[in-house]
Amino acid sequence: MLEYQQRIQAFLNASLNNLDVPERLRAAMRYSTLSGGKRFRALLVYASGLAVNAPLNRLDSVAAALEYVHAYSLIHDDLPAMDDDDLRRGLPTNHIQYDEATAILAGDALQTLAFEMIASASSGLSDAQARSICLKLAVGSGQTGMVGGQILDIQATNHQLDRRALENVHRRKTGALINAAVICGALCGDHTTESQLSGLSDYADNIGLAFQVVDDILDIESSTQELGKPSGSDVENGKSTYPALIGLQKSKKLAQTLYQESIVSIAAISDNTSLLEDLAKLVVERTK
Ligand code: IPE
Ligand code: IPE
Ligand code: MG
Ligand code: MG
Ligand code: MG
Repeated sequence: MLEYQQRIQAFLNASLNNLDVPERLRAAMRYSTLSGGKRFRALLVYASGLAVNAPLNRLDSVAAALEYVHAYSLIHDDLPAMDDDDLRRGLPTNHIQYDEATAILAGDALQTLAFEMIASASSGLSDAQARSICLKLAVGSGQTGMVGGQILDIQATNHQLDRRALENVHRRKTGALINAAVICGALCGDHTTESQLSGLSDYADNIGLAFQVVDDILDIESSTQELGKPSGSDVENGKSTYPALIGLQKSKKLAQTLYQESIVSIAAISDNTSLLEDLAKLVVERTK
């Protein structure tokens, strides 16, 4: 994991340095992208790519694209009009460090940069691969996926959703981009089969829901210091969460069940699934 975390960090740093962009925008883009984070979505791209024997150099651009979309989603999620949080990855949020207009624009620019990375000839992807990866990322991040989930999350402020509705929010706002990370990694392979894609998609759906359930749990159980973002933000904002709906113990049990199902989903897809397994474990064992 550490090896790929370092690899993506170096790649992101170089890619953001090479842009022709107004200096304040570059600074704001760099600030939120290079500030750390677990790099979970990038790691999923590498892990899934490794499982289907995709060449490593192709995975770099795709992993970077996923981190750009993720960074954009965090910048916008923290805005006053959304979760109104002032701390992210242990630092002031983008709109606090810069200003709201800059934060909105840095998010916008990171989003489009993601698609530029994939479509660019330097990605090493074939035209067909670039097209299918762009489509998957668009669906995972847009109105069907992350953005669609975010508006449902905002609309649910101050009233608790029922279980079905909450699962839908979590699968969209967080699960969809995690599914895109796993599938985009697999689409970098030249011989990826439908049955591999299907197993990987089930894996991703399980860890994607588990990821947000655990995020809800950590919002209650972890400290601001440990999280690097404000603990208790969900209660303060009147958010619908799993712990609020079914309690902490049942939420933890659900995350464990989803973890176990994710491992079963990839049992037969390849003999190189160890990083995928480690990442699934990280989802349920993490403390930040
Ligand atoms: C936070 O994502 C936003 C959610 C979807 C819950 P991460 O927990 O992956 O944040 P970083 O990238 O590690 O900071
Ligand atoms: C955010 O969910 C999911 C995104 C699409 C960014 P949260 O609002 O719970 O994420 P955090 O806790 O602020 O990281
Ligand atoms: Mg939010
Ligand atoms: Mg938030
Ligand atoms: Mg949260």
